[in-house]
Amino acid sequence: MSDSKTLDNLSHETRAFAPSKEFSDQAIGQASQYAAAKEDRLGYWAQQARSVLTWDTDFAETLDWSEAPVAKWFVGGKLNAAYNALDRHVENGLGDRVAIYFEGEPGDTRTYTYAQLTEEVKKAANAFESLGVVKGDRVAVYLPMIPEAVITMLACARIGAIHSVVFGGFSADALRSRIDDADAKLVVTADGTWRRGKPSALKPAVDAALEKPGHTVENVVVVKRNGEQTAFGPLDKWWHEVVDAASTEHEAPAHDSEHPLFVLYTSGTTGTPKGIVHTTGGYLVQGAVTHRDTFDLHPETDVYWCTADIGWVTGHSYVTYAPLINGATQVIYEGTPDTPHQGRWWELIEKYKVSILYTAPTAIRTFMKWGRDIPDGYDLSSLRVLGSVGEPINPEAWMWYRDVIGTNNGKNGERKENPTPIVDTWWQTETGAHMITPLPGVTATKPGSAQVAVPGISIDVVDEAGQSVADGEGGFLVIREPWPAMLRGIWGDMERYKSTYWSRFDDMYFAGDGAKKDEDGDIWLLGRVDDVMNVSGHRLSTTEIESSLVAHPYVAEAAVVGAKDETTGEAVVAFVILQTEPAEGEDVVAILRNHVGKDIGPIAKPRHVLVVPELPKTRSGKIMRRLLKDVAEGREVGDSTTLSDADVMTQIAQSMKK
Ligand code: WTA
Repeated sequence: MSDSKTLDNLSHETRAFAPSKEFSDQAIGQASQYAAAKEDRLGYWAQQARSVLTWDTDFAETLDWSEAPVAKWFVGGKLNAAYNALDRHVENGLGDRVAIYFEGEPGDTRTYTYAQLTEEVKKAANAFESLGVVKGDRVAVYLPMIPEAVITMLACARIGAIHSVVFGGFSADALRSRIDDADAKLVVTADGTWRRGKPSALKPAVDAALEKPGHTVENVVVVKRNGEQTAFGPLDKWWHEVVDAASTEHEAPAHDSEHPLFVLYTSGTTGTPKGIVHTTGGYLVQGAVTHRDTFDLHPETDVYWCTADIGWVTGHSYVTYAPLINGATQVIYEGTPDTPHQGRWWELIEKYKVSILYTAPTAIRTFMKWGRDIPDGYDLSSLRVLGSVGEPINPEAWMWYRDVIGTNNGKNGERKENPTPIVDTWWQTETGAHMITPLPGVTATKPGSAQVAVPGISIDVVDEAGQSVADGEGGFLVIREPWPAMLRGIWGDMERYKSTYWSRFDDMYFAGDGAKKDEDGDIWLLGRVDDVMNVSGHRLSTTEIESSLVAHPYVAEAAVVGAKDETTGEAVVAFVILQTEPAEGEDVVAILRNHVGKDIGPIAKPRHVLVVPELPKTRSGKIMRRLLKDVAEGREVGDSTTLSDADVMTQIAQSMKK
């Protein structure tokens, strides 16, 4: 699919689906919230903050923007994130409510009530403290999707230690660079996990990461998950030894509203990943409010399932924090959607009677490819809200989600009269929580559009000069006012924070996404406008992969582009110029793909590596990625008149035919 075709589809999309009366009548999120927030934005957030959280000390000021672009929200307030997610529900008599239904890939299950989860977190907090972790220390978390991941994050939050979760799919090198950047004192990991029916190791990557001296790690706590043999060094401690032995008594201290809660690394336009810093009060408020309103959460009856891994921000905000703050019951699944069969997700929804499903377009497109017969064979009648996140959802996938999943009313083939509403949620690691989304009981939803700013959030689309565009026009997505869950900076690099987000336009946050307002003023997201690719909803930087390729002795120069892909949204395609001829029989393409996989992680492995004699460059030496994208997507090559050497594209075309 080409860019122009995507735009074309969007501009012809005129369908809109109003919520049913039945849904609206019971909905939590109300149209009146937009008006209330418009009239008194800060008053609205202050009121929400007091309603969704329990504060040890009430805040004195809602927003302090005097040191813009660094915000302080709910100034003077003190609270504990773990207490809000756990203890208070137990104190309120909800100790027996299920917090987590865990399902491992091999089919093992564990259920945690709020009372049990509270105990586990208290034990983990005591265990980490006994290992010398104190408030403000950084803890690297390198775990699969198992309950210990949530327990570890909440135990850190309880103590006031700052967690830095590193996605389990990232390499040892990527883990080490994140450990070093944050000077982590403790690493929490597992022997391994299960992937497509086979044990998959994690601990060896930690060992490799810590092999070279010079790091700050004092202890490594290892969860026994898949039972695979693992080397055990002087830093290593078993989770079941240190945590199980710890006391179940732990007083949650009150932390400042602006105390850092976590650092999460994400790809930017330049080489090194940025450590996005989030703090406590504002982050939790916006997470909890949006989780409640966007998903129409009725915590007493709903079963919520967000399929994101805790390695990504969605897993932070909408698995670990917001659902528990809201007292919800949620499902956590460890494995892949096709193990042991392609109906696993639908089987889980049927089994746990999931009522709210939050997933990514790439998953939906995969299920489309596998065919509707698979979900049609399950009873999905419990579903009542469907969410999407991570990348623009194309109207075809949106309609499939609605028609196939949203109308499923049981195995007998009966269909729901009122399809389940779909909420397409736009946000970023940096924004911490939903920013643009329909409200399922209010908004007439449009296939492919995230549509409207969350109440109390100020979104706009502007032109090159920063002027608001008219309805019907496109431009750059910006955020005009500070918001509670906004990032507070980049770990250790405030200048980079300012230049990345606040220098493109005066007094506006630049998101890096292109967007369009339709005739109704609804917002359609059009993908990144910078050098960030989006592969299966995961952010990857072209520069980071180029640097990795160029670091290989065979490679003289490299250019990476994201080519449109029907399933993963984009796929990584690398063009390389070799400086050394590979030895006889060596598969240079495989070598380079594996090199990137090892350097950054398997998700960054280029789908294709194309060896070319030259790269197209402008006279000033800039690589013209646009032309390479044309080649990678099999299109007629566009305007190449600014190339310094007009023959280059012909040479590339010829080398591709070989
Ligand atoms: C993209 C994920 C269109 C966007 C929560 C953004 C989306 C980047 C949507 C952030 C959506 C996320 N529609 N695009 N509903 N959701 N994106 O930091 O390009 O991993 O800038 O946060 O994903 O990715 P991140």
